[in-house]
Amino acid sequence: MKIGEVHDANRKTVGRTILHFDAVESTNETAKELLESDVEEGLVVWADRQVAGRGRHGRAWASPLGGLYASFMVRPKEAHAWLLGLLVGMPVVKALRHFGVFAGLKYPNDAVYQNRKIAGILSEGVYRHDVYHVIVGIGVNTNVDLDKLPPDVQPRATTLKREVNLFVANEEFLDYLLNQVDDLYSRYRNTRIEFLLKDYRGQCTTIGKRVSVTIGKEKLTGKAYDIATNGALIVVDDQGVKHEFFEGALEILK
Ligand code: BTN
Repeated sequence: MKIGEVHDANRKTVGRTILHFDAVESTNETAKELLESDVEEGLVVWADRQVAGRGRHGRAWASPLGGLYASFMVRPKEAHAWLLGLLVGMPVVKALRHFGVFAGLKYPNDAVYQNRKIAGILSEGVYRHDVYHVIVGIGVNTNVDLDKLPPDVQPRATTLKREVNLFVANEEFLDYLLNQVDDLYSRYRNTRIEFLLKDYRGQCTTIGKRVSVTIGKEKLTGKAYDIATNGALIVVDDQGVKHEFFEGALEILK
């Protein structure tokens, strides 16, 4: 059920209108449903909890009360859904740092603190009436107790509440986050993508680390070397051969 609507005319695109729900299946799905009506670009769907939150690789995203679950919709000129999803990791990390958690960016777009995940992003491209839309969903473990997350997730996760001795209201976090996302989207539209990828490269803490990447039954181990101009992660394997990855389960090795 919709419980509020917030407008901010100071933002250029993302977050000019925020629809606030108490509970939804998934904010990405609600945003997609709203595409049937004539909604303005930048619309945000925010929910207090999700009953069927989705993560990358077809996984579930546990979404208990206390966490932040929001999706925004944009209509970029080019079909770059994936690249936009990658870059949105930057404002998420910036917001976490602003509120006191010195998070880093694990490729492609996980926010992690001391190797524990604190936020994730699911970006999807959809056509409606021949127009390309990108829905970017952001989930942040803000005021969640770790024991409210599934037992298998707990050892690899953390929350803002756990790391910072300070209560940050989701509304306040979202407000700051959307200002950063709005700035990023402006740059995305007006700057060459190489410049943004350069920033991303500077913030991605995966580079230089030993990693393993699993895609299906294949597993490759090597050193994360760089971000390619197409946004792929370049991994140099133990034989010195370069590989490019966009997806796959990435593990940082000690
Ligand atoms: C991941 O790291 O696997 C991505 C997690 C994305 C979760 C967010 S919460 C808001 C939006 N709605 C969803 O169902 N998923 C995204």
